[in-house]
Amino acid sequence: MAILHSLAFAIKGSIQDAPSASVVYASGTMASSVPSLRSLSKFALGGAQVLLGTGQTVLGGTPQSCPNAQLSCHNTTAVENLCCFNAPGGQLLQTQFWDTQPATGPDNSWTLHGLWPDRCDGTYDANCDPSRAYTNISSIISSFGKTELLDYMNTFWKDYQGDDETFWEHEWSKHGTCISTLEPTCYSDHKATEEVVDYFQKAVDLFKSLPSYEWLSAAGITPSTSQTYTSQQIQDAITAKRPGVTVTLGCKSGVFNEIWYHYDVRGSLQTGEFVPSNPDGMKSTCPTSGIKYLPKNGGSSPTSAPTTTSGATPTQTSTPGTSFSGRGFLNVNVNGAKKGCIITVGTWYTSGTCATITATAAGDGFTLSSSKGKCGVVSGAFTCGGSVTTATTFTSSNGKLAAGGNAAWSADKVASGTTQEKVYAGSDHSTKVELVWQGV
Ligand SMILES: *[C@@H]1O[C@H](CO)[C@@H](O)[C@H](O)[C@H]1NC(C)=O
Ligand SMILES: *[C@@H]1O[C@H](CO)[C@@H](O)[C@H](O)[C@H]1NC(C)=O
Repeated sequence: MAILHSLAFAIKGSIQDAPSASVVYASGTMASSVPSLRSLSKFALGGAQVLLGTGQTVLGGTPQSCPNAQLSCHNTTAVENLCCFNAPGGQLLQTQFWDTQPATGPDNSWTLHGLWPDRCDGTYDANCDPSRAYTNISSIISSFGKTELLDYMNTFWKDYQGDDETFWEHEWSKHGTCISTLEPTCYSDHKATEEVVDYFQKAVDLFKSLPSYEWLSAAGITPSTSQTYTSQQIQDAITAKRPGVTVTLGCKSGVFNEIWYHYDVRGSLQTGEFVPSNPDGMKSTCPTSGIKYLPKNGGSSPTSAPTTTSGATPTQTSTPGTSFSGRGFLNVNVNGAKKGCIITVGTWYTSGTCATITATAAGDGFTLSSSKGKCGVVSGAFTCGGSVTTATTFTSSNGKLAAGGNAAWSADKVASGTTQEKVYAGSDHSTKVELVWQGV
């Protein structure tokens, strides 16, 4: 794992392979290195002792060390060792979305799209290794104990159709498998699938150092249903925070919905230095003026910028009062902030795929069902599936799900990682939650 690798070097006192700590632009430097160090402490004792004591790791192998690595896309002769030099995909793009229909992720944050290797001329390779097109990304990340990473992805790496796992699989197999420095042969003692974890961790670390919403807000560029912006205004706002280079702006019918941040890399993806670069091709799809940057919730977006996006508390993703009809997700809110959702069997989970729930009008309210079957309250807990003999007729109270007219729900604790929690009707259990509809 890159983390153990950096630990090994930190302990040996070498700065040659210092991970993202050496990102050159000032404001992102600490932001991108701190999360790694934080997660590092989790493993510091067990992992480091094993690493230092026997030269082997329990968590997996280490990527090659890359002294005097060249900067990708800047070599003048062929480079042999593609474990220390990204090629042919030498330019790495951290791509971000602003989805409004349906809205994904917190109202005051862009979300992750992916981390893509471009050839140095704007073209790219895709789907480079079908044998590593894994269909269990969440399990892989969990199996390496990276609960925080998975939680973060569940909030900020969202699929607009609600199927985050499938979206992650697509990003990994289409783009991740084309990154030369992530090849299993680049690790000593490679542990199967560990490069997948390094890919997602790196994408998230970069994303945390690129708080687009904050940067745009700081220049007065905030979501609006009436205001429009020019490409130059948006570029200037971002360049003010990430000097010297421009980004790729994506628009759909004049509506701003993507930002691509380009980098060249000195060394490997896992431990190398990400150097901001100009786009390697002409890809912006935004008009020069009249660009719309729409609020995620039809005008009710927050007006103030968050203080930071890294580890920020996600805000609610549904419009309060949205009616329970058609297909949607049941999001679980704790203290007004979205924290996971209901999965098909009716339990609350932060690492799984949200159930697509169907709401059907019935009597004075509506019934709900998931792919497992009807939903109801069984032994006090929200449940979907065979054990529900009669679907409960629910009602909506200010946009929140209510059973028997009561919109209070509670759980024994906040769901986290791979632990599912039952959600009980009423407020008897210690953690009070709200169930909110998000149409899809
Ligand atoms: C840079 O290195 C790559 C990988 O060896 C090689 O394919 C490419 O041709 C090199 N570029 C130049 C200009 O030599
Ligand atoms: C993920 O899937 C791969 C390929 O099917 C398998 O080898 C691996 O053991 C799985 N990992 C986990 C943690 O389930």
